[in-house]
Amino acid sequence: MERWSDPKQLMVWAERTRRVASFISTDQTVMDLGCGQMTLRDAIPKGCRYIPADLVKRSDDCRQIELNEGLWPQETADVVVALGVLEYVYDIKGFFYGCARIAPRLIFSYHISYSRNYATRVERMKMGWLNDFPISQVVTEIVRAGGKIERIDGFMHKQNFTQYLFVVVFPI
Ligand SMILES: C[S@@+](CC[C@H](N)C(=O)[O-])C[C@H]1O[C@@H](n2cnc3c(N)ncnc32)[C@H](O)[C@@H]1O
Repeated sequence: MERWSDPKQLMVWAERTRRVASFISTDQTVMDLGCGQMTLRDAIPKGCRYIPADLVKRSDDCRQIELNEGLWPQETADVVVALGVLEYVYDIKGFFYGCARIAPRLIFSYHISYSRNYATRVERMKMGWLNDFPISQVVTEIVRAGGKIERIDGFMHKQNFTQYLFVVVFPI
């Protein structure tokens, strides 16, 4: 909470936001989990309803949540978006089950390590990331929660990991 209450911790990921917004069609209700500065609000097509949710109550309409304590939004949506959030979640299984309860479609990002060596762990710790899930575990937990992966895009490559964008559909 202390970290995320500091606005300097929030970077703007314009390209990621733009790309995700292009996966969303008009008139959808979009739940933005871990909304940060809510840059997605202005990027999604006109006619969409935007619902922000975050650990920090970032606006009057922001739903206050704490994904590590099972505090999830109560509403449903057409699509749930979680960008730059799974890195801060301990319970990956609970994460996908929680998203599946909100919407039949999930778009999320996650940094996957190339190898799980010491240097990579140190770098992840420096970022404040709380986990290091391998791709096999991410895929397994999506499938366990009833999800089907529609698309995976390798998005940004760094020395020790690549950021991926996942689009998942859950049966209604
Ligand atoms: C890296 S920022 C990403 C912000 C935004 N999604 C974006 O792409 O610009 C991570 C966001 O997740 C929120 N967050 C971190 N841990 C959380 C938790 N346990 N439950 C809910 N939100 C959390 C932070 O407050 C922050 O706004």
